[in-house]
Amino acid sequence: MASVTLDAIDKRFGDQHIIKNVSVDIRDGEFCVLVGPSGSGKSTLLRIIAGLEEVSSGTVCIGGRDVTQLHPKERDIAMVFQSYALYPQLTVRENMGFSLKLAKRPKAEIDAVVNEIARSLALDKLLDRYPRQLSGGQRQRVAMGRAIVRKPSVFLFDEPLSNLDAALRHHVRAEIREMYERMRTTCVYVTHDQVEAMTLADRIVVLRDGCVEQVGTPVELYDRPVNRFVAQFIGSPSINFFEGVAQVRGDQTAIRCADGVEIALHDRGAVHDGQEVICGIRPEHIRIGTDEGAHDIRVDARVKSGEFYGAETLLVCDTPVGPLAATGRDRQAYGLQHGAQASLSIQSANLHLFDRATELRLN
Ligand SMILES: Nc1ncnc2c1ncn2[C@@H]1O[C@H](COP(=O)(O)OP(=O)(O)OP(=O)(O)O)[C@@H](O)[C@H]1O
Ligand SMILES: [Mg+2]
Repeated sequence: MASVTLDAIDKRFGDQHIIKNVSVDIRDGEFCVLVGPSGSGKSTLLRIIAGLEEVSSGTVCIGGRDVTQLHPKERDIAMVFQSYALYPQLTVRENMGFSLKLAKRPKAEIDAVVNEIARSLALDKLLDRYPRQLSGGQRQRVAMGRAIVRKPSVFLFDEPLSNLDAALRHHVRAEIREMYERMRTTCVYVTHDQVEAMTLADRIVVLRDGCVEQVGTPVELYDRPVNRFVAQFIGSPSINFFEGVAQVRGDQTAIRCADGVEIALHDRGAVHDGQEVICGIRPEHIRIGTDEGAHDIRVDARVKSGEFYGAETLLVCDTPVGPLAATGRDRQAYGLQHGAQASLSIQSANLHLFDRATELRLN
């Protein structure tokens, strides 16, 4: 096991600045997920850790050792790709034992290790098959098995589930986390899927345009996003945004929004009088129905659409502050017709406030 430390990493491809001054400390034994939109530099950063890509400047340390100039082979890492990258002419057993064979380990030892890991990944009945005779999920498990066999001090994953269908993705995701729970080896995992990031990670690094936007636990990112981008990126269905202007009168602070909607703030020091702000409220923090909390702000709402998910209902309504999506367990809400009057109230204690110009968090 080993920590991974990225210090002031810069990467340019020609005149393109792709990774911009990225510093991240990944702890020994941690499951760290790099998440961000397509093109944000996730794979490039992972390939820099692996040694498959050179840095323009900065240092990479693995287990406290500066590996910036070292070859991938000398870094004690194993990488699992989206495309599996199995050898088609080798059986599952041979694919899994390949690195040990290269290292000239005795055959008995290779067999023992491969058998044990195949059992733990439920591949033991498939050892004599070729990759073409396997399903996508099985191939991905073989690719993982091949990485585990090497007992690296760090696992690197680049979107390992993206070739699988939704049901299988869920299943293999749970297997990856289980494998991690057993081994507790440091994992760095790249995905553009925030749900995958939230469910797998101990800590998440959010990247945008080659910059780190925020590093934190899933709960920290969800509850206290540092800016509008992170608030929008994390959470499904997405957070709602609407605009307002802060009004400070004595010791009363409120956000004035469209059409006279006014939200009193508990956190008074967050804003100054006249400041233009963006309010963020997650769909589960908008109550549907008539039972209102003490600090809730009722808004007039007309139903645009409703979606029934079984346990929950998602209701999208037009309101004076713009369209708002609300989720709740009230089944009756689903029966509301398009255009019907709905009763929504914003739970002001759960409001996220961002400066309109800088988009940074205020409260
Ligand atoms: N070898 C290269 N030469 C030039 N530009 C590159 C090279 N590799 C990557 N890039 C550019 O660097 C940026 C980041 O690419 P990268 O593959 O790291 O993104 P990503 O976050 O992994 O995206 P995705 O989610 O689509 O996989 C992109 O704009 C890409 O075009
Ligand atoms: Mg990528």
